[in-house]
Amino acid sequence: MVANEKLDEAIELHDGRLQLQLRPWRDDDVAQLVEAVQESMDSVGRWLPWCHAGYGRDEAVAWVGHCRSGWQSGEHFAFPMFDASTGRLLGGVGLNQVEPLHRRANLGYWVRQSSQRQGLAAAAGRLVARFGFEQLGLIRIEIVVLPDNRPSRATAARIGATCEAIARNRLWVNGHARDAAVYGLIPQDLDRTRPG
Ligand SMILES: CC(C)(COP(=O)(O)OP(=O)(O)OC[C@H]1O[C@@H](n2cnc3c(N)ncnc32)[C@H](O)[C@@H]1OP(=O)(O)O)[C@@H](O)C(=O)NCCC(=O)NCCS
Repeated sequence: MVANEKLDEAIELHDGRLQLQLRPWRDDDVAQLVEAVQESMDSVGRWLPWCHAGYGRDEAVAWVGHCRSGWQSGEHFAFPMFDASTGRLLGGVGLNQVEPLHRRANLGYWVRQSSQRQGLAAAAGRLVARFGFEQLGLIRIEIVVLPDNRPSRATAARIGATCEAIARNRLWVNGHARDAAVYGLIPQDLDRTRPG
């Protein structure tokens, strides 16, 4: 699989329809990240434990550093999503848990509260999935979602993924084993479906 610093520097993804711009996280994204997380406790914090009331600069700096080292090691590929015309940070999307042996990875996403319900996560997810298939050589991407997370399940379906199973004890959440919906996406799915 291809992954290195050069790719990190070169990569920029665009969705012309929604004016979305994606590129790897940079140190100067920290302030916007803190602001976006702090406004999103209710919706993002409900599902993703890292989004909590005390989130501040230190955590944002650590996240950006973690993302940059992930690009260098080829272990994970995280992107902030921006409004291409204003530069406003809209959320994050990325491939993680990359498993080179079987060319598989996990796709995750979040959108800041004030920018939700515009179809951004699905558009960004499709861009990153295409990057995974075409640039990293993946053959399968999974989206693993708590069964009652309806916005995320709708996003997975809009990306073109299929719910293949409710997997038992698939996630460990807040000290408890939880079943999860496992969505599978293969390269042909992106061509078969259109963003909606
Ligand atoms: C999941 C998430 C990324 C979707 O982002 P988005 O850009 O708002 O997605 P969309 O605009 O395509 O909306 C997706 C669906 O959720 C619905 N939805 C969005 N926000 C909602 C809300 N607050 N309450 C109820 N439904 C909501 C939309 O109506 C849409 O459903 P539809 O396609 O049936 O109309 C966003 O809700 C989020 O950040 N959630 C918290 C983080 C998270 O759960 N990440 C995924 C972990 S697996």
